[in-house]
Amino acid sequence: MEIKFQSNFSSKDKVLIIPLFTKKKKLFLDPIPKKIALGAAKLYKSHDFECKVEQIYKIDDGSQKILLLGLGTIEKLTNAKIRNSFAAAAKKSASLKTKIVHVFIYKEILEYCQSIAEGLGLASYQIAKYKTGKEFEELKKSRIEEVVFVKAPNLKSVGDEEDLKRRLNKGFMIADAVNKIRDMVNAPSNLLPPAEFANRAKRLAKENNYKIEILEKSALKKLGLNTLLAVNAGADKEEQEARLIIIKYLPNKNQAPIAIVGKGIIFDTGGYNIKTGKSIYEMQSDKAGACAVMGVFELLARLKIKQNVIGVMPITENLVGPRAYKPADIIKTYSGKTVEVIDTDAEGRLILADAISYTIKNYNPRYLIDLATLTGACVIALGDRYAGIMGNDKKLRKLLIEAGRRTDELLWPLPIHPDFMKKTKSKIADIQNIDEGTGYYAGASKGGAFLKNFIEKTKWAHLDIAGVAFTKNPKPYEHERGTGFGVRLLIDMIENLQ
Ligand code: BES
Ligand code: ZN
Ligand code: ZN
Repeated sequence: MEIKFQSNFSSKDKVLIIPLFTKKKKLFLDPIPKKIALGAAKLYKSHDFECKVEQIYKIDDGSQKILLLGLGTIEKLTNAKIRNSFAAAAKKSASLKTKIVHVFIYKEILEYCQSIAEGLGLASYQIAKYKTGKEFEELKKSRIEEVVFVKAPNLKSVGDEEDLKRRLNKGFMIADAVNKIRDMVNAPSNLLPPAEFANRAKRLAKENNYKIEILEKSALKKLGLNTLLAVNAGADKEEQEARLIIIKYLPNKNQAPIAIVGKGIIFDTGGYNIKTGKSIYEMQSDKAGACAVMGVFELLARLKIKQNVIGVMPITENLVGPRAYKPADIIKTYSGKTVEVIDTDAEGRLILADAISYTIKNYNPRYLIDLATLTGACVIALGDRYAGIMGNDKKLRKLLIEAGRRTDELLWPLPIHPDFMKKTKSKIADIQNIDEGTGYYAGASKGGAFLKNFIEKTKWAHLDIAGVAFTKNPKPYEHERGTGFGVRLLIDMIENLQ
């Protein structure tokens, strides 16, 4: 999406978004051009336009469509409201089949411009990536290609203009990265097998000058990342072979990195504990954690973030077949501990165990944050509005929850009770991947408890994003399916670290 700036209105501006808020219960119209202000005042008086958050009132005079956009009251304005409102306006504009959208912008909303751009950019995502012919042409018509910001007279100082551009550029950059990641989450497994995922990581590293290591099957065997290999055993095509991808952004010398580890199951059939019917259909999204890591790395260099960060992505299919791993298998993990597989559908914790141990051993991170579409139980508990957060460090939890509030990627704490730790003990091996019979009770917490066995002293947070990574009930800035959850959250958290 291209962005441009313009100093005056023109009647040629076909779709024009006019954001409005109220102040002390009156419509705030000071910076709004006379003619539009008069019209808006009338509509407000007649209650046709109440200036509620996300409310849109369309004025169509034949040649021009003006969208009055409600932001609520200035006293209660938040970035989330702004993001949602502008997203709603972008979706409305797209439905008017316009390629260019004009947005009026004034000093009082300058500080929210990053969220304005995020809302516009995120809402302009399209999920139907694989259409051809007529339908493809139709889709193109409702794709916004250019946003022109029309600056109010009160926004003309050099400082303000720079501020405006900086905030908007950042917001659009973030939206682009999230949209790219949504494509990856949504991509079906035949189009994005492990080998292709690794290629994308390589490309990303090259574009941004990151160091990258990709451990392939032979290296994984040599090193003993046996849980990743076990989950991968059912895959029989070369392109489906497991990979451990490690990508590094190290702008500072001698600083322990923040490690982010993302579950990358390309497709989760459940293995021999096979998923059925509806529950299997969406399992191309089981790589959303790893995709979020990719999204963070899309942004670290571009935003010139001054923190060392390493991203770790265990990537594999979870399939059935003559070579697939089976319930009751015992696996020696990279850490040396043995795990009994009770259920092949609890595969995410298995691949994360080795990825986490490997990360701690080789990088000794300052913080380790893992993101995983780990449990259906978390979906049941928190739905698609909160991801579950577990871990062993209060401060890290606080940093993440606060970043969640700022970005509207919300987190809710779930407990790891010592009793849940006991339930991870196997009768015949060190650990079991679920506790038979009651594995579903407090299922999200027990997923966290399993992972905790591989942490020891590292400051760690586990984000269960099963409910928020993929949605049927999108927010204004989302679309059905992949949401790109985690990218904005982690970037914000890392940016705000001391
Ligand atoms: N990938 C699933 C979790 C999931 C469920 C993600 C729904 C997104 C939506 C995970 O690998 C899984 O199958 N978990 C099992 C764990 C169980 C066997 C303890 C589950 O939730 O049923
Ligand atoms: Zn599973
Ligand atoms: Zn899974």
